[in-house]
Amino acid sequence: MNNQQEIEKRKTFAIISHPDAGKTTLTEKLLLFGGAIQTAGAVKSNKIKKHATSDFMEIERQRGISVATSVMTFEYEGFLINLLDTPGHKDFAEDTYRTLTAVDSVVLVIDSVNGVEEQTRRLMEVCRMRDTPVIVFINKMDRDGKNRFDLLEEIEKELNIALHPMTWPINSGKDFKGVYNITNNNLLLFTAGTKADDEDVLQIDDLSSTIIDQKIGERDAAQLREDVELIEGVHGNLIIEDYLTGKVAPVFFGSAVNNFGVQEMLNTFIHIAPTPRSRATSTGSVAPDDANFSGFIFKIHANLDPRHRDRIAFLRVCSGKFERSKYYHHVRLNKAIRFNNPYSFLARSKDVIEDAYPGDVVGLFDTGNFKIGDTLTEGANFYFLGIPTFSPEIFKELVNKDPMKAKQLEKGIQQLTDEGVAQLFTQFGGTKKIIGCVGELQFEVIQYRLLQEYGAAVEFRSLPFYKACWLTSTNAKKLEDFLRFKQQNTAEDKDGHPVYLAQSEWFLNTEINNNPDIIFHFSSEIHK
Ligand code: G4P
Repeated sequence: MNNQQEIEKRKTFAIISHPDAGKTTLTEKLLLFGGAIQTAGAVKSNKIKKHATSDFMEIERQRGISVATSVMTFEYEGFLINLLDTPGHKDFAEDTYRTLTAVDSVVLVIDSVNGVEEQTRRLMEVCRMRDTPVIVFINKMDRDGKNRFDLLEEIEKELNIALHPMTWPINSGKDFKGVYNITNNNLLLFTAGTKADDEDVLQIDDLSSTIIDQKIGERDAAQLREDVELIEGVHGNLIIEDYLTGKVAPVFFGSAVNNFGVQEMLNTFIHIAPTPRSRATSTGSVAPDDANFSGFIFKIHANLDPRHRDRIAFLRVCSGKFERSKYYHHVRLNKAIRFNNPYSFLARSKDVIEDAYPGDVVGLFDTGNFKIGDTLTEGANFYFLGIPTFSPEIFKELVNKDPMKAKQLEKGIQQLTDEGVAQLFTQFGGTKKIIGCVGELQFEVIQYRLLQEYGAAVEFRSLPFYKACWLTSTNAKKLEDFLRFKQQNTAEDKDGHPVYLAQSEWFLNTEINNNPDIIFHFSSEIHK
């Protein structure tokens, strides 16, 4: 198989959802279809207990497993599907944001009862920034959910994306009878507790067919005809290009736990979801079929066992072919580097691989060479764009409890921030170190790891900030003055870029209004 054929085979995506909407269940069903797992429950048992708010040791205990399940690769209908896992716990949302930079599309799971939830909103914002193609799976149709038209309207409004129903449900909750596939004109009948099989799919010529009345009753058949007519009138046919540019999201209804409506979605997914696409770099775009290899690091997993300090860096291949034991150019360090034991995350075992193609994710053993966003090439000096850092939500001052260990602390904090566990800011005009995270749990992880891995004892003091904004200005003097006058609220990030730390939305808006020459950015490209 040549490179082009390898590229066209690959679909690299992530499933995203608010916790509890059904991401793990859906993942599992997809893996069952792909033959990557044999029994239900295999993914579930790896799942981090999402309700444990301070039980991060549990999370760490499971890390060994979660590395293995970070990328699940399976074949389906001749396609090679890379499903990148995202952490369920909201405190690790930043990890999810970064994983989204490595995928070509996403499937968004929405709970039909709860509709759009907090985490759904935030994850979609990240997808919208990159115009990532989205397929929506409305889950838990076996429960009494919201009115489906209201639900679609809510999703469109709240997530700022047009929807295109591909299937349409017949009732919900205990009256749920199945879904009608608008594109294929077939009816998939639902029986609670049993897996839908081929016999439950009724091919019908058109909606006026009396078979529908016989199967679901006259009243529901009439409602279905009315609904579908309305939907077809409003939406027409799906324009694939609108999906690929992130403007329109095809929608499927189903029940993951009953394995219902999942295959419908998968069958459409493999045909419309994008294969690896060109990516923006600092010197122009790089196409997957470019002869030269390139890729970037989007995630780093530390080994928590202090006897094994190695880390695993996750490389997304973007162009060319990655080969084992070949020297590549580490752009930031300007150094040649090779990997003798790169491994793939093929289901069930971690295998050393000889080569990998665009869309693939390779695990590289790292002894401290990498940080998130690093680019590897065959010699070219560019880096991939679109790997931003977002503002943390909780800020705390880092207090060293053992001055004798200042050096170890410095090293530890540098490495942990390289891994993307937290963000580090240093207050202007002082040496106060500020750690920013998305969730409380991360502070516990940092405290624990600094002590265990670096022997540095620290504590955290809460700070009253709620958001960090990166500052730029064409007027250097104005920016300098601002940083001087607002010393209490300004800092530099790890790379020396100025940041404004806002106490509240009101303060932030006031500063934005008072300083028209300064631009307040809500995310930062890791490399600028
Ligand atoms: P998550 O990864 O997005 O956090 O969600 P997960 O798949 O764990 O699903 C959350 C809960 O919702 C699970 O129940 C799961 O069984 C249930 N669920 C998933 N899909 C459906 C569906 O289509 N219909 C209904 N009624 N429930 C669904 P749990 O009680 O938290 O876990 P478990 O005891 O079932 O393992």
